[in-house]
Formats: sequence, structure tokens, C-alpha cells
Amino acid sequence: MEEIFEAIKKSAIKIRWLVENEDTGYSANVNSTGDTQLKVDIKSDLVIEEELKKIDSVKEIISEEKEDKTPINKNGKYLVGYDPLDGSSLLDVNLSVGSIFGIYQGGYAGENLKAVVYVVYGPRLELVIACEDVKLYKLGEDSEFVFVKNIKLKEKGNLNAPGSTQSCWSKRHKQMIDDIFVSGYRLRYSGGMVPDLHQILLKGGGLFSYPSTTDRPKGKLRMVFEVFPFAFVYEKAGGRAVDGQKRLLDLSPAYPHDTTPCFFGSNKEIDLVLKYNE
Ligand code: F6P
Repeated sequence: MEEIFEAIKKSAIKIRWLVENEDTGYSANVNSTGDTQLKVDIKSDLVIEEELKKIDSVKEIISEEKEDKTPINKNGKYLVGYDPLDGSSLLDVNLSVGSIFGIYQGGYAGENLKAVVYVVYGPRLELVIACEDVKLYKLGEDSEFVFVKNIKLKEKGNLNAPGSTQSCWSKRHKQMIDDIFVSGYRLRYSGGMVPDLHQILLKGGGLFSYPSTTDRPKGKLRMVFEVFPFAFVYEKAGGRAVDGQKRLLDLSPAYPHDTTPCFFGSNKEIDLVLKYNE
């Protein structure tokens, strides 16, 4: 597992260079979920593939930017599902973006996740590794990631990050979000899953939601590359993650690019989500 973390660290430093220097224009390609790929999405994907291909313990990889799995080493133990540059449409306005890596064993179901790494390309380059606990690192002067602290959620936070658009929410979801704001929560939503969930984790708690909507009844966010990895991080940090009723890590996708409604938060906020969805 350590060698996979090291490969991800190398990729993160290379992708940071791309984020800072590459053209933020669109390519002519569309990915499996129907998003037009930026040139920098494609380049970041290649950087990661190149690094993970060198690692013996990696059996196979699958990227949000590719339709199919790529076999690496038939004797390898781990499957890596990754989103090379989540929120990349925010690059042209210079907001933070991220990379997400789920390290699975035996299949791409939530219960098979063994570890998660995510990277935040912001004013600082930060990296979070979740195994038994959740550790935050930042890139130091000598291009090495240095440990900063363990991340732990409080029982209740005060940030609210509601995804999609109100016109597509159900009445019940709108009521819940309104009630959360009335009870004093602050709106914090950039439109980038990585920085938005990272902010809630580091500020102690709150709620990030991407519900079932009229235009996307199965939500927008992908189980293998986005939802399971963050569900794992939130649970290891002492919070919870559900699809409205069920624990997200109990789900399995029928196809690797499947999406699901999702709610990530500290304990009190997830109690509330479950209550509104009874
Ligand atoms: O996966 C794509 C993504 O950009 C996520 O990073 C983000 O949380 C979400 O879409 C934002 O979607 P919306 O603009 O519909 O709230």
C-alpha cells in the first residue's frame, strides 16, 4: 500500500504543475458520464496511469475519464478507482480542485475499500490519507509531503454545502436545507467536491449533500471515484455518509460509472438527513 501512496504523491506534484501551467480549454472528447473533457483532465489522467503502472501491487486501474478498466499486473492485489481532476471546470476561475483515489481489494464495492487518498490543489498542495484514521499532509519546501495533523469531525458542525439547483430538488430536500439554514448553518459551496468536503472536514463538521434530483434521479456523483472514497474518509474521521436511507459503503455499483445520491456529514447532520428521509 505504501508504494501506491508514494506513486500518488509523485502524481500530485506533477498534476499541480499542470493545474498551474496548462491550457484550461476543452478537448474534443466526452467522458463516460457525458462531461466534455478538458485537456488538463486528459493529461492528469495520463500522469496517474503512468505512475500507477510502475507499482507491482496494483492489479487494475479505472479512471473517471475512461470507459474501461486498465489491467496492470495480474498478480497485483489492489484495484485503484480514481478521479484525476475533480471540479476541473473551476480551473479557469482559479478555485481549488482535487484528485481522488479509492484503493479497493476484490471489487469496486464500498465494503472493499482499503484506503483512500485525496489531493487538494489550492493555495497549498495538501494530501489526505485515510486508512485506520485520517491524516493531513502538506507539501513542504523540499518537495516532500509533511504530516500536519489527524482530522477528526466534531459531533455537529455549522457548514452546509447543498449540491445541484433548488429547482430540481424534491420538496422534502428543500425543506431540510431551509431548516438547516434557519438553524444557523452557513452556506459554503464552491462546486468542487474535493475542496467542499475538505472544508467541512477541517472546520469540524457540517453537511454536504447531492440528492436525487428531477434531472438526475440517481444523483450526479460517481460511486467508485467520488462517493465511496469520501464516505470512507468521513467514517474514518468520525462522521457518517448515507444515500438518504442507507450507508453509502454498503452499496455496490452495477457499472463502475454509476452514480448515487449522497450525504456526508458529522453525526448530528446525518441523523437529520435520515429523519427527513424516513
Ligand atoms: O463531479 C463533478 C462536480 O464538479 C463535483 O466536484 C461537484 O461537487 C459537483 O460536480 C457540483 O455539481 P453542481 O454544480 O450540480 O452542484
